[in-house]
Amino acid sequence: NLAENAGGPRAVKYGVTRDHVLNLEVVLANGEVIWTGANTLKNATGYDLTRLVVGSEGTLGIITKAVLKLIPLPTENRLMLVPFRDEQKACEAVAAVFRAGIVPSAMEFMERDAIDWTLRFVEGVSLTIADDTRAHLLIEVDGNHGDVLMRDCETILGVMERFECQDVLFAETAAEKDALWLMRRRVAEAVKSNSVYKEEDTVVPRHELPRLLDKVKEVGERYGFKSVCYGHAGDGNLHVNIIKGDMPDGAWENELPKAIREIFAFTVSVGGTLSGEHGIGLVQRPYMDIAFSPVQLALMRGIKKLFDPLGIMNPGKVLP
Ligand code: LAC
Ligand code: ZN
Repeated sequence: NLAENAGGPRAVKYGVTRDHVLNLEVVLANGEVIWTGANTLKNATGYDLTRLVVGSEGTLGIITKAVLKLIPLPTENRLMLVPFRDEQKACEAVAAVFRAGIVPSAMEFMERDAIDWTLRFVEGVSLTIADDTRAHLLIEVDGNHGDVLMRDCETILGVMERFECQDVLFAETAAEKDALWLMRRRVAEAVKSNSVYKEEDTVVPRHELPRLLDKVKEVGERYGFKSVCYGHAGDGNLHVNIIKGDMPDGAWENELPKAIREIFAFTVSVGGTLSGEHGIGLVQRPYMDIAFSPVQLALMRGIKKLFDPLGIMNPGKVLP
């Protein structure tokens, strides 16, 4: 979680891992042990090594202890599943919720296929979906006052109706909430069980989500691949699962990287970047030049070299 700067469904309200780390004990490549910061909520002292190490994917050092900022667990939540006939409208509704003054504790998007494939894959979750439903938003609000949450839900419903949602399902019990979350959490596994796949972790400012989805589908049509998209819509973070299906091996190896390049060029052109939460590793490393100029990459290489002159920390990852 720390080395990856993991995100997930609640990041939209609570931030990502990095936002909750105060201080880290790190073993450096030469064996020295350092602390990166201080155990304080405020710290205006020098460069922020803590934020640098979080998300560095093991390339700068090995994290051995962490001091975290804890927050109280909210006592109440409400969860709703909102179907749409039009996936574009589902995406457009996302930013409108925030413009209405609500910050949900989760705001997840799932294409029709993502739900269908998951329902087939996971035992014990059943859900009736209308034939013409194309996408869902799973929306949660949380806090400590039920009446406030009910008013928030009414505001959200008003927004959803403006974007022509279908019949909204409110989870009434803890078991119903668990079932909806189970379904969402198993999407990745379900989608991947179907075919050879590639998962790209795109992220854009959330108001650009409709155009991102459109772009992914347009590129897919041109290059001849199907994609199943889902993710943390409130963050503008769309997981694009590219399904190999019947795509010939040659096209998969040689043409697909060009398609992915087009998708990332788009995300960067609208103010987004390569990865919202899955990191770069090896899979997205060939695309780093889209997000960063040679000057920026040189700075990153310099940092890497300073921490790890012999290149022994998770070698070959992140930097092209
Ligand atoms: C998810 C993981 C794949 O959102 O990031 O399900
Ligand atoms: Zn995710």
